[in-house]
Amino acid sequence: MFKHIDETGYTNDLACYLKHGGYAELKKALTLEPQFIKDEVKKSQLRGRGGAGFGCGVKWGFIDAKKTTKPIYLICNADESEPGTFKDRQIIHQDPHQLIEGMIISCFANSVHLAYIYIRGEFPEGARILERAISEAKARNFLGKNILGTGYDLEIYVHRGAGAYICGEETGLIESIEGKRPYPRIKPPYFPAVLGLYQCPTIVNNVETLCNVKHIVSMGGEAYAKIGRPNNTGTRLIGVSGDVKKPGYYEFECGALTLGELIYDVCGGIRNDNKLKAVIPGGSSSKVLRADGRFKLKDKEIGLNDIPMDFDSFAAIGTMSGSGGVIVMDDTRDLVACLANLSEFYAHESCGQCTPCREGSQWMKKILRRMTGGDARATDPALLKSVADNIAGRTVCAFGEACAWPVQSFLAAFRDEFEAKAK
Ligand SMILES: Cc1cc2nc3c(=O)[nH]c(=O)nc-3n(C[C@H](O)[C@H](O)[C@H](O)COP(=O)(O)O)c2cc1C
Repeated sequence: MFKHIDETGYTNDLACYLKHGGYAELKKALTLEPQFIKDEVKKSQLRGRGGAGFGCGVKWGFIDAKKTTKPIYLICNADESEPGTFKDRQIIHQDPHQLIEGMIISCFANSVHLAYIYIRGEFPEGARILERAISEAKARNFLGKNILGTGYDLEIYVHRGAGAYICGEETGLIESIEGKRPYPRIKPPYFPAVLGLYQCPTIVNNVETLCNVKHIVSMGGEAYAKIGRPNNTGTRLIGVSGDVKKPGYYEFECGALTLGELIYDVCGGIRNDNKLKAVIPGGSSSKVLRADGRFKLKDKEIGLNDIPMDFDSFAAIGTMSGSGGVIVMDDTRDLVACLANLSEFYAHESCGQCTPCREGSQWMKKILRRMTGGDARATDPALLKSVADNIAGRTVCAFGEACAWPVQSFLAAFRDEFEAKAK
């Protein structure tokens, strides 16, 4: 059941993809009504795999091709910059045609004729693989003009970023494609579905989300919704890094495993048989959990090992499964140093548009540097908290939360370690 994706033996060219039934779902989709496909995606309860877990069918429902005279765009978000997250790059490297097929079906369903894959600058190999996959798909008329004789036209372009985390935020990404500095836009009014790329209706979806669409077309929305748990459907790719014996990325049904089963049964437990100390469950911006913490889930109190690996369970205990990046820390870790490391990243990546984030992320970095450098002041834990509290909720985009939540949650869960440094 816990099949490691690496072991599939797949090659990533079109011949191999076709041998395994590739593009059959595209052929099927092109015989269906676009609205029918949208309805199936809604029924599937597919949730976005990029971070927020927003309903894919709900997002697509904001766009009605019959009610707009503007072109509709679709953008695949392949920026994948959140520390701890490394799943989209595996899909791109190992199975690029699954993404291309998922995108073509999604574009057909939403009357899109021009789509982009926005890939982060640090993935040159991924960009080359996608370019090759696109030209292979075009050569077989799965893409381009009059796709498979149906009269439907679609072009997909790969757009390489220059290596900035903020370009993963959908409106920053849109600004970047438009050739501008990627300052995120204010919502409202700039919801991509309303005023997106070139001020036109735009769908932005994560790589993994779009791959799922092909499987929904194959099995139908209702059957797909039976995989996993209600409202947490389908499979998920989870990247596990840090102090486990077998780090890697794994695919399993949403909610089929608990966090403890993932760490101990799938990943072989903690390296050197050390003790587990803390887990960041969904990419570095999700709130950290103490290994010995008690969490309230549906009127029950449970331990960390018993948390089901699904969207709703992590949200219910006050964190998130976000981008599926589980970071495991053992009892040899200095958590002040771990947080300092994360804060360096966020201070470097703030786009600088909003003052609380631009200034605050630097201040948090400086305070944590002096705490790890032996120069901490007695007031530093309180100062750190106050800076973080003044960033979250006060910025144009959720980068503010992304940099403040680690600080707030590390401080809340491990205050003693911060106090000890501040003496
Ligand atoms: C600071 C920041 C960085 C983000 N980075 C990514 C990213 O690298 N990849 C991604 O798919 N979504 C990222 N997101 C979420 C996107 O804004 C957007 O919600 C997502 O691409 C939607 O796709 P989905 O609905 O399929 O999940 C980021 C959000 C924020 C606030």
